[in-house]
Amino acid sequence: MEKIVINGGNKLHGSVSISGAKNSVVAILPATLLAEGTCRIENVPDIKDVTVMLRILSDMGAEIKTINKNTYEINTKNITSNVVKHEMSRQLRASYYFIGALLGRFNHARVAMPGGCSFGVRPIDQHIKGFEALGAKVVMGEKAMVDVKADKLIGTSIYFDVVTVGATINIMLASCKAKGLTIIENAAKEPHIVDLANFLNSMGADIRGAGTETIKIRGMERFHGCEYSIIPDQIEAGTYMVATAATRGDVLIKNVIPKHLESISAKLIECGAVVEDFDDSIHVSMNRRPNHISIKTMPHPGFPTDMQPQISTLLSLASGSSIISESVWDNRFRYVEQLIRMGANIRVDGKSATIQGVEVLHGAPVRADDLRAGAAMIIAGLIAKGTTEIEEIYHIQRGYDHIIDKLKSIGADIELRNDPDNSDQISNAG
Ligand code: EPU
Repeated sequence: MEKIVINGGNKLHGSVSISGAKNSVVAILPATLLAEGTCRIENVPDIKDVTVMLRILSDMGAEIKTINKNTYEINTKNITSNVVKHEMSRQLRASYYFIGALLGRFNHARVAMPGGCSFGVRPIDQHIKGFEALGAKVVMGEKAMVDVKADKLIGTSIYFDVVTVGATINIMLASCKAKGLTIIENAAKEPHIVDLANFLNSMGADIRGAGTETIKIRGMERFHGCEYSIIPDQIEAGTYMVATAATRGDVLIKNVIPKHLESISAKLIECGAVVEDFDDSIHVSMNRRPNHISIKTMPHPGFPTDMQPQISTLLSLASGSSIISESVWDNRFRYVEQLIRMGANIRVDGKSATIQGVEVLHGAPVRADDLRAGAAMIIAGLIAKGTTEIEEIYHIQRGYDHIIDKLKSIGADIELRNDPDNSDQISNAG
């Protein structure tokens, strides 16, 4: 069983380069189903979610050429299957983007309900509402199969009742080939929505307004191949920014879009960090105990929910009491139990947490409950006194490209250990 082992106390210093965005690439890979030619995709992060997505495409019959570990050429012209089975779909949330992409390609998709991180109920009612508005019939079948079928997709206006990244992407994918104009109102504005729109437009789509709350998609019959480079990962960058500040280090974080990091920079500055933006890099340093602050997670451009566990970890050592309000997910504080094992003083009350800063965290055996919770455990290990061992690290491997090597290169004492003796494993039961 693999563990990450960290001896805490080292300040991070030097420079680190950020990989392509997980949440972009997991939308762009299914989008290749809409192209008639070859799509060359660069800056693909080397993460487990990408491996699974490529497997799904390859099992369907796509030709995939690995140019190097971050560049792939994908041609989906010979695909005839419109099915993604449970064994594959359950491995990641984004497998549901195959519904929109297959619906666009074949007017019929059969995709098992997706997996992904567990933050309480993750409904897909807005996706269904959008597919139905485009003229499709949605049937939830056996073995968690979602069957979505249309005689013809017809452009329409869709208003989302909640701001949802997943439904915005799925409807963009499906409506690209619908007849006429589709207007999405109350759309999500995350950087990966804009990245997907740019990718589809470079295949010949006509999508305007991505990054605002109204997206207009004029349907087209055919799309060609293209060359495209994925944007840098906002959350990976934010994780290194917070890790740097938490260890009171000094790191230049390269290959980023500073505009995407504004909400994270603003909160780190409130904490007492020094943050400087350059064209495509950001410099973070901190040399004192963090101030206590309040944070409310919000859809973009608000403070991202996917940074909440990491910044809460930093605030566990702040002077004074911080309040974190989670407004996106019902249950995103599971990791708090692990931080408390390390000595943090945190009280969770529904969708908010009060963090009373302590002087020190102590290394302990802990568990990565999900992807970002895993990142928080790494930050906790970096700042704790003593040794931290993190279990269930497959969650971390889903979304962080070579995180151990990258952290080692900036001074962390961290390693991957294959430990056959798991007798003192933390129970995941109950
Ligand atoms: N929602 C509904 N109905 C729907 C869809 C969503 O009520 O049909 C609600 C959700 O329950 C949630 C809110 O809307 O309360 C936002 O959900 P959203 O659809 O935006 O989330 P998602 O698409 O499932 C993506 C990211 C998550 C990130 C959220 C929010 C991907 C693959 N996942 O999830 O990323 O937390 O947006 O920004 O893009 C991560 O990377 O660690 C991660 C979990």
